[in-house]
Amino acid sequence: MAKESKTSKKAAAAAAVSAGVQINIGISDKDRAAIAQGLSRLLADTYTLYLTTHNFHWNVTGPMFNTLHTMFMAQYTELWNAVDPIAERIRSLGHVAPGSYAAFGALSSLPDAPAQPPKALEMVRILVAGHEAVARTARELFPLADAASDEPTADLLTQRLTIHEQTAWMLRSLLED
Ligand SMILES: [Fe+2]
Repeated sequence: MAKESKTSKKAAAAAAVSAGVQINIGISDKDRAAIAQGLSRLLADTYTLYLTTHNFHWNVTGPMFNTLHTMFMAQYTELWNAVDPIAERIRSLGHVAPGSYAAFGALSSLPDAPAQPPKALEMVRILVAGHEAVARTARELFPLADAASDEPTADLLTQRLTIHEQTAWMLRSLLED
């Protein structure tokens, strides 16, 4: 019995040490926390836009069905692949990555997908606004990452900005004559 208690004490001590491992990558604790918080908002925005785009892939109707069904698939696939590097950057900075509908709902700057599927061109308008909103979230974080010399985050933000601004342009073009 005494031996068991000694063993569990040892295990508890080991767990405490592991939970408190210091991170020393040259970015202050305060900056790591602030950048991780900004990345959590970017993750929530990206995940929300992913789900809306997949929803529209399923529910689009009308004469542009084939074009939009295929285009939305390419876009939701790209967004789905984007969430993993964002979440793993948060982990690399020593913070917990959010990953629930409740957390994403609280963090996201984008509205949830409409309950009833809109007309095809309204879907396009909603996605343009979504890509622009994600771009604003990424851009807002950039000066902080830059000032903290967090190059991996700055690089990730640059890549995401390029994609969101390009996708917004392509979708916007569908709305013009
Ligand atoms: Fe499909």
